Amino acid sequence: MVVELPVIEAFDAMSADYDVVQDDWYATLDAGLEGLILATLGRNLEGRFILDIGCGTGLYSLKLAHRGARVLGIDPARRLLEQARRKARRARLRGATFSTGRAEALPVADRCADAIVCCGSVFAFVDDPEAALREFYRVLKPGGWLIFDAENRFSIDTLWLSLSGLIGDPLGYGVSRLEVLRALSTPPTRSVRLRYPLVRADGSTVYVGLRLDPPGLVGEWLRRTGFEVKAVRGFHIAGALIPSTLTIRPDLPRVIRTLFRGLVRLDKLLARFRPFNYLGTTLAFICRKPGTATPAVREVDWRLVPAAAD
Ligand SMILES: C[S@@+](CC[C@H](N)C(=O)[O-])C[C@H]1O[C@@H](n2cnc3c(N)ncnc32)[C@H](O)[C@@H]1O
Repeated sequence: MVVELPVIEAFDAMSADYDVVQDDWYATLDAGLEGLILATLGRNLEGRFILDIGCGTGLYSLKLAHRGARVLGIDPARRLLEQARRKARRARLRGATFSTGRAEALPVADRCADAIVCCGSVFAFVDDPEAALREFYRVLKPGGWLIFDAENRFSIDTLWLSLSGLIGDPLGYGVSRLEVLRALSTPPTRSVRLRYPLVRADGSTVYVGLRLDPPGLVGEWLRRTGFEVKAVRGFHIAGALIPSTLTIRPDLPRVIRTLFRGLVRLDKLLARFRPFNYLGTTLAFICRKPGTATPAVREVDWRLVPAAAD
């Protein structure tokens, strides 16, 4: 039987496994998101104050602190934060600190942050995405950057998930026929909520609820909040020709791994062209709060983030 846990409980339950589980799907996504963050913010982050929302065990917080930024990682899952603090102590990174909190009610002052990263599917777990974007806008300085990723309702992987759910879930997405039918009957302009499998180090699975958003709706939330969308980049476009339940595993068979890596190379090309970028399983949004930044906003090399949004 598939048992769904509340989000925070599920991540706290995963805390011992969180950094152990390694798979090609997330390794590709993490590296791609890091590339986007550095292309946007620059490689030397001395003197910047950056918030890492939904920081988990500090994946991005530590990378940013290594580059000189002062980082505050915020997450509601206390056990993951304990790990993040332990890792920062071990690496002697004084610039990385951590606090419990939620994206929808950030425990920081107005206009204090130079940039916000909210990466690694965090946005899909947030209960009230528009409230979170309003908070991001409130705490960013004018001219500050927001880089976050959303899970796309319209990707090849959601197609696999729907097909699997309709015929008894042989691919192991953990969705029932009823859930799929409910999602399919939801108007295409609205988000849907589905169960999502988190694989543990021992191969067992914890299921958690995840929101999938239509790209246009995310764009509308951003515009309503006041953000300028500078670029949208898709991840796992062709990569999702192999269902994610087969690639998100530590013990990936060699033949699937080789095929998947080939598709990932193809994705690097597809992600540069509309409309392919909008077919990514995950969509990264690079946004700015309007206004003049101090220090001056650096010139971004948009060739590295080439799939510009309208
Ligand atoms: C898949 S993990 C990503 C963690 C980290 N960013 C990474 O990439 O390794 C999703 C994180 O979102 C956090 N989260 C869930 N709901 C949240 C909320 N409302 N506000 C902030 N973070 C939240 C979870 O606790 C979890 O740490």
